[in-house]
Amino acid sequence: YLHSFLTRRSSDLAASDPYQFRNLAERLVAIDNVNVIFGCYMSSTRKAVMPIVEKYNRILFYATLYEGFEFSNNIIYTGAAPNQNSVQLADFMMSMFGGQVYLVGSDYIYPYESNRIMSDLVHQRPGGSVVAQRYVPLNAGPKDFEGIVAEIKELAPDFIFSTVVGDATQHFYNAYADAGLDPKLMPIGSLTTSEVEVAQMGAAVAAGHFTAAPYFASIDSAENHRVLQRFCSRFGDDVRPNACWEAAYFQVHLFANAMRGAGTDSVPVLMPEILGSEFLAPQGRVRVEPANHHTHLYPRIGRVNAMGEFAIVRASRNAVAPDPYLVTHSMGDWTLALETLQE
Ligand code: ACM
Repeated sequence: YLHSFLTRRSSDLAASDPYQFRNLAERLVAIDNVNVIFGCYMSSTRKAVMPIVEKYNRILFYATLYEGFEFSNNIIYTGAAPNQNSVQLADFMMSMFGGQVYLVGSDYIYPYESNRIMSDLVHQRPGGSVVAQRYVPLNAGPKDFEGIVAEIKELAPDFIFSTVVGDATQHFYNAYADAGLDPKLMPIGSLTTSEVEVAQMGAAVAAGHFTAAPYFASIDSAENHRVLQRFCSRFGDDVRPNACWEAAYFQVHLFANAMRGAGTDSVPVLMPEILGSEFLAPQGRVRVEPANHHTHLYPRIGRVNAMGEFAIVRASRNAVAPDPYLVTHSMGDWTLALETLQE
């Protein structure tokens, strides 16, 4: 497997470009004979690789939270589906701050779809409404957020749902702080602002804002401490573990265990070993749901503290079954297993 990675050239970098992802994935499977790919962050890149792994019957392990409403026989989804993060974030933010929400996102499929889901969830609640929905370019800089924060100030929503991703995230939170807005009164809630983005913007700017994710580096469990210690001794303190890292970590273990069982990476033999398999991950024991190839995960809500760490303010005691099409979800699912851990 590693051959193609070890021999790659800089022109082979996919650089968040879906066309590059598709071309390079096709080269991996058709020329390099790779059966199993781990990768893609943005949904636009997963959507580009999906037809390739389907055409050649290969496997893609995908570690990012995403907008749901997808199934591929050839993908294993180990990041959160909307019923494992959006539903909980909507419930938490609306019950704590109110039902008037301002939506701002990067200009691509995940924010459009995630905002569609958030809008549905907001409208399910009496008095809930979306006061505005805005998009910025993927590579948005500080200037792109000047008008956004001016409008937020003017409309004064109860909270902001941000689906801004990547480097643009720090510019949005910085613009929010520069405008003198107060997270205690009108916080930002997100699914993509992780430890990595918080480190980029700095603790002072990030403090008080919320993120919903199955994993935060601050989880106080023996398994998380054990894995983080090994991670830090190998990679140092500069690389920030976040939810995508944790999903990428445990999906490789799911794969390794399946390989031990199958004795081959032949997809028809390997896939049944992956489906239904479990692993004690840093977030808790996870399981791949055979019915939809997504993973049973533990919803959590974290609020950034003054040290730039996520203090976990709500957590699900039990893993929540993935429901990528939001068929059976209700706001009640979360409250069933919810505990308030801190103020
Ligand atoms: C994403 O694009 N799935 C964050």
